[in-house]
Amino acid sequence: MIIAIDGPAASGKSTIARLVAKKMGYDYLDTGAMYRALTWKALSEKVDFSDEKQLANIAKKFKIFFETDPKTLKKKVIVEDKDITKEIRSTKVSSLVSIVSKVPAIRQMLVGEQRAFAKKGNVVVEGRDIGTVVFPQAEVKIFLTATPAERAKRRQQEFLKKGIKIDKTALERKIVERDHIDSTRQSSPLVKAQDAHLVNTDNKTVREVAREVLKYCLKELKER
Ligand code: DC
Repeated sequence: MIIAIDGPAASGKSTIARLVAKKMGYDYLDTGAMYRALTWKALSEKVDFSDEKQLANIAKKFKIFFETDPKTLKKKVIVEDKDITKEIRSTKVSSLVSIVSKVPAIRQMLVGEQRAFAKKGNVVVEGRDIGTVVFPQAEVKIFLTATPAERAKRRQQEFLKKGIKIDKTALERKIVERDHIDSTRQSSPLVKAQDAHLVNTDNKTVREVAREVLKYCLKELKER
């Protein structure tokens, strides 16, 4: 069974996807990490980000590996033998990733890898276009939302845990900017699939959201 979880930046997709995968005994894939890792690679090769051809060329020779912690299901992101798990969450990568993910040739290549990953069977896959483009046949589709203010608050808390203080208003501005680019791009824009369950996460705990998502998954399993 494929469980597709989509939603805008900082809507809690990764945390929920991992929790749901753990409960279901499934593997999970963070497709945003793939676009981020490619952005990191383009930065390290000093590519001109306004040149789609240069970006697509980087994608051609790009190989990404995930190393899974069997207990937490947390993944290390490895590119060219280097652990770049932390680097791909930097503000620099976050501000450029929407440019990279707009390039159709890049999407085509990464979507191919995402489909190959799901061949193993039961998986939770999270991103922006999973229920619409990558797996339109997914048995369960979830679309997570939260207001930009709530999402900025969550991101700020995540940074604080790492000892980094960032202004919430600036974070909210960046989130709204990224939402805009992600949802207005030509290629696979961020939209809710018609048959996706809308889950609003405002004022809900992670456990409450995970429970709601699991309810849809278990219902699907029962009806099969
Ligand atoms: O989920 P995230 O914030 O880590 O994703 C980073 C960026 O990657 C996001 O701004 C848009 C892009 N992305 C995408 O275009 N398609 C996906 N399936 C996943 C992410």
